[in-house]
Order: sequence, then structure tokens, then C-alpha cells
Amino acid sequence: MCMVIFAPLFAIFAFATCGGYSGQLRVSVDCVNKTDSNLSIAVNFAYPFRLYQTYFDVPVCDGKTRERLFLIGDYSSSAEFFVTVAVFAFLYSLLATVVYIFFQNKYRENNRGPLIDFIVTVIFSFMWLVSSSAWAKGLSDVKVATDPDEVLLLISACKVQANKCKSVHGPIWSGLNTSVVFGFLNFVLWAGNIWFVFKETGWHKSSQRYPPDSSEKRHSGFTQQPYNQGSCEQGNFNQSGGFGTQGDLGQQVTYGQVYDYATHGSTSLANQM
Ligand SMILES: *[C@@H]1O[C@H](CO)[C@@H](O)[C@H](O)[C@H]1NC(C)=O
Ligand SMILES: *[C@@H]1O[C@H](CO)[C@@H](O)[C@H](O)[C@H]1NC(C)=O
Repeated sequence: MCMVIFAPLFAIFAFATCGGYSGQLRVSVDCVNKTDSNLSIAVNFAYPFRLYQTYFDVPVCDGKTRERLFLIGDYSSSAEFFVTVAVFAFLYSLLATVVYIFFQNKYRENNRGPLIDFIVTVIFSFMWLVSSSAWAKGLSDVKVATDPDEVLLLISACKVQANKCKSVHGPIWSGLNTSVVFGFLNFVLWAGNIWFVFKETGWHKSSQRYPPDSSEKRHSGFTQQPYNQGSCEQGNFNQSGGFGTQGDLGQQVTYGQVYDYATHGSTSLANQM
């Protein structure tokens, strides 16, 4: 249930921070002949980072002529791949929310819902990992290509010693750094959810049919605890009935309450609609 709440939100953060980005860097070219100088040359770029299409005009310091320069590189493939995965993950998790809340019975019918959910969750986990890694690499290349000191190397006037070229400011990266962090957070969220969706499929039950002896039961209770602590999937967890009966774990109760709250919240939402 928690997955249902956080997955769409995290996906939005991922594609909004990346897809909505626009950055600016500024350099100054101070010519020997001051009238030619431009001390505030702005270079604007944005998602999807086809930098070779980004141009800016700089003085050549030879009178009135200016030259048009282009940044170098095309990082659109990794950026667009990342945003596409995030958008589809958002749409799927919204769809899953609707199915969980309104079509609970249909979802469990023939075990088809859990099965599809499991496969799709595995695929999305993998896609989050691949796209986040690719985008992390793409972003580090974008940072190099838009470094003001790198941009100064493109300006012919700056190759003449007498002209003074300086970087004024570089782009602000916090938005894009956030998008990479959210990409990997999404991977953790989806990969962690694989276990809980797997439990929904009921496959694990066939391997747990042995009559459990009490010490083993206790042991398994402890080994499962990290999942309880580390994950917000307690809702699914209790729902599947796996450990709901082990009331001796205080934490279990707390998470159960959180789940009840979430369910109640969903129900009242449903009622409002
Ligand atoms: C500066 O510009 C003027 C006219 O535009 C030119 O006569 C002069 O030679 C230039 N000086 C230098 C150092 O380039
Ligand atoms: C300096 O460059 C900016 C664009 O970066 C341009 O808008 C401005 O007109 C230029 N100034 C001069 C004096 O050419």
C-alpha cells in the first residue's frame, strides 16, 4: 500500500526535476578594444540536452563582427530514456493504485493480477537501474560540456592573450542531481517491492508448507525483521497474512496501524469520489 502512495510521487520527482530543467552559464569576453567587449554572455540550455543545438554569440574582438558558437555533445538519449521510464513508472503505479483500491477482487482472480504485477515490477526495477545509471553518466558529461572554462576554449577571441576571458557563473545543478538521486531511490523502492509483490503471487507458500518447529519459526521471524524495518511495504506484508499473527513484535503493531491508516485514508478517498 505504501508503494502505492510513494511510487507515483517519487516518479514525479524524477521526471519533473530532469524534464523541467533549464540552466544557464555566463562568461565574459573583455577585448583589448573595450567597445567590442561583452562582459555578460549568457548560454542557455535545457532538457533534453541536445547541446550541439545550443548557440550563443560572442565578440571576435576585431571591430564589430560576432561569431555564433555551439556547445558540444548530445545527451538527449540518456535524459529522454530516464524521463520516459519515470513517466511510464508513474502511469503504471497510478494504474496499480486504482486496481488495488477499486478492483481488489479482480486483482486476485486467478492470481493474474499479482503475476502481472510481479513481472512488471521486476521490469521497472531493472529499467530504473539502467536509466538512472545512464542518466548519471549523461549528467556528468553535461556538466563537463557546460563548464564555463570549457566553453571559453571554444571562443576564438580567448585564444588571443591580450583579450581577457572569464567565467562569470556556471549552471546550477541541484535540480539534476536530485533527479539522479530520485532515479536510484525509485530503483530501491521498486526492487524492494519485488519481494512483496512476490508474496502476493503465493508462490512462496508452496515452499513453506513444512510443519514449522517453534524455534525455526522464531528464527524466521528475526530474519524477516529487516524487511519490516527497512520497507514501507508493511501493508502488503500484513495483507498477505505472512507475519500478521506474530503479535509479539511490537513494531509489527505500529506498522499495522500505519497500514490501517493508509487503508482508511484510501477508503475515505474512495468514498469522496
Ligand atoms: C581599436 O579599434 C579602433 C577602431 O575600431 C582601431 O582603429 C584600433 O586599431 C583598435 N585597436 C586595437 C588595439 O585593436
Ligand atoms: C552580449 O551577449 C548577450 C547574449 O549573451 C546579448 O544579449 C548582448 O546584446 C551582448 N551585448 C553586446 C554589447 O553585444
